[in-house]
Parts: sequence; C-alpha cells; structure tokens
Amino acid sequence: MTIAPHGGELKNCLIGEEQRPAFLEKAAELTVIDIDAYTAFDIDGIARGIFSPLTGFLGEEDTTLVLDSMILKSGLPWTIPILFPVDNVLAASIEPGQEVALRDDHGAVIAILTVSEKFTLDKKYLAEKVYGTTEEAHPGVAYTYSTGGTYLAGTLEVASARPVEHQEYNLSPKETRAAFESRGWKRIVAFQTRNPIHRAHEYLTKCALEICDGLLIHPLMGTTKSDDIPGDVRMKCYEVLLEKYYPKDHVMLSIMPVNMRYAGPREAVMHALIRKNYGCTHFIVGRDHAGVGNYYGSYDAHHIFDDIDPVALGITPLFFEHAFFSRRTNDMATQKTCPGTKEEHIFLSGTKVREMLSRGEAPPVEFTRPEVAQILIDWATHS
Ligand code: ADX
Repeated sequence: MTIAPHGGELKNCLIGEEQRPAFLEKAAELTVIDIDAYTAFDIDGIARGIFSPLTGFLGEEDTTLVLDSMILKSGLPWTIPILFPVDNVLAASIEPGQEVALRDDHGAVIAILTVSEKFTLDKKYLAEKVYGTTEEAHPGVAYTYSTGGTYLAGTLEVASARPVEHQEYNLSPKETRAAFESRGWKRIVAFQTRNPIHRAHEYLTKCALEICDGLLIHPLMGTTKSDDIPGDVRMKCYEVLLEKYYPKDHVMLSIMPVNMRYAGPREAVMHALIRKNYGCTHFIVGRDHAGVGNYYGSYDAHHIFDDIDPVALGITPLFFEHAFFSRRTNDMATQKTCPGTKEEHIFLSGTKVREMLSRGEAPPVEFTRPEVAQILIDWATHS
C-alpha cells in the first residue's frame, strides 16, 4: 500500500498536448502578467501536484487560516501560503472572474489564471507568521517585502512543466511513486537539502535508511539565496557520493524544483507534506532545518510538529539532533549516542568551510568526503 497524497489525490493542473493550441489561442487574447522565477517555480509546484491539494494561489480566507492556524479551509495542515503578489496598479485593472495569462522569466506564457479574488495583506504580519521575524535581513522577508502589494487568487491551467537543469532527475510525484513501486519499496525516507551532502547529512540519511526500505535524496532546486552553493555544483557532489558511498539498490536521487523560503519550522512541515506527495512515508528533520542566520532555535523545526495533527500530516518525521564526528568514538554521532565534550567533536561552520575552500584547502575527511571536497574546491577557486 502506498501512502496517500495530501488531501487524498495528486492534483494536476497541466494541460494535455492536444489542448495546447486552444490554450495559446486563448492566452493571446488575455492581459499578460510577467512573473519572476520564484512564482514560476510555485506554479510548477501547483501544476504537477507537488503542492497537492492546492490547484492555484490561495485566497484570503485560506491564507489567514494558514497563517493563524496552520490549516487550509478543508482542515488539512498547511503552513506556508502559496501566494501571487502583483503590483497594485496592475491589480487595479484586474477583476475577479477575469482570466489572465502569466509569462515567465524566460518569456514563455506558461499559465492561465482564473482570478477568483484579489486582496491585500499586512506584509509584516505575513512575515512574522511565516518567518518568525519582520527583519529585512531575513531573505524570505526581503523577498516578501520586494513583491507587489495585491494578491491574486485563483485556479491555474498550466501549459508545461518548468524546464530545469538536470531534467533527467526532475521526477514528478507521480513518477517517484511509480519508481518506488517498481523497486518494491514500502517505507521510503526523504532527505531535503540545499547543500552539498557532508558527513553529518550522510549520517542522518544512513541512520534513517536502517529503518526504511529506500532513501530518496531530494535536493531542493528552486530559487535559493545568492550565497548558497549553486545547484549544478551540488548535483556533482550528490552524483559522486551516490557512486561511491551509497548502495544503489536502496537509494534514489531526484530533485525537488521548489523555492527555498528559509522559513525554518514552518518550512520543515511544508517540506514533509511535499515529500508525502512524492510518495515518501518518512521525512528527516535535523538541526535548524531550513534555517538561516540565527532566526530559529536549533530544534524549533522539531517542536512545530507537536502542533500538527499527526494523522492529518500523514508522513512520519524522523528527528535528528546535531550530528558531528566524534574523536572519542572515532565515528559520526550525536550527543544522544556518544559521550564526550565539545572539544572532541569535529564540526565546522559554513563560513569556516567557505574560507577553507576558497584557499583551495580541503575540509577534513571527518567533515566531508574527499571527492566532494574536490568538487567544492574546484568551484570555489574558479568562481
Ligand atoms: S536545509 O535548509 O535544507 O535544512 P541543509 O541542506 O544543511 O539545509 O540540511 C539538510 C537537512 O540536514 C535538514 O534536515 C537539517 O536539519 C539537517 N542537518 C544539516 N546539518 C546537520 C547536522 N550537523 N546535524 C544534524 N542535522 C543536520
């Protein structure tokens, strides 16, 4: 038995090939709104069922419920509203009931939105609820403040999936579900990451795999902040690791083309729900999941699950404490599994790793595999 998608069925807002001429003909008659890459990725998430049960951008009632109670009108858990902000002047010319064509950052008309509602939101309230802060130094807050002041809600008809690099890894929820079934996997754990996989990440994934049939390494490949390591560099790291350090018959690599929001706890729940849609039964939540700077406590992304009905969540989170290499046990561990003091732990901050890489220096093998270190050095010293 496979796990049910969130809300019971996988949504699909993609039109068929045969509907394309009529779609283009209709779109040519409509007001065109230009959208950025962020919104284009959100549309892809809705279109391919990644965000099931959503079939469009949220309206005001759903948004308020998500912000205040972390549920949709249907009562299903949902933690981050998927919104379509547009410029106030443009929004003034659009009325509910109207259809508008959406043109992406590559110049292609990718979707038709049937506008059901337009509304405004207090952006500070939105930021405080989603990101836990109103500070513009937070990348998610900065993005929220930078976008238009009116939100358009409504359902979407989408012409095609968003093309991404490494398309061969861009399996839809329907496709990962089929892949798990053909492998005979029943308990599947997903690993979210926006970084190269270091030894601590590897440790979490392998601990989790010990109690599951399969591991889905599922790196996020939507928009990320400019100082995150680019997706193509990360893909090389994942490939080399899979080749040498993971067993092929229990591990699968696929990408998740979803924007990074840096919303910490709320994003951890969203990441879990998305993986449920991809057919995973378990989801890894480690230390400071989806965090940035010092905005969240190390385990806030664990605690938030206490406020979500586990049956309605429907996917099992696997919580991990801060992992490191212990000189005492000569092994990867957490405080839960090994004695000793902090001085005996090898843990490097992101900043420290960056400094080492840009000097052409490999971080210690206890921190990262040498093949991964080499890819990162090549990137850091040539970019
Ligand atoms: S994230 O933004 O995708 O969360 P990252 O790629 O660093 O960032 O983390 C991927 C997953 O590994 C997250 O669940 C995170 O909590 C976890 N994680 C990262 N580093 C550690 C660590 N040293 N110990 C425990 N968990 C970690």
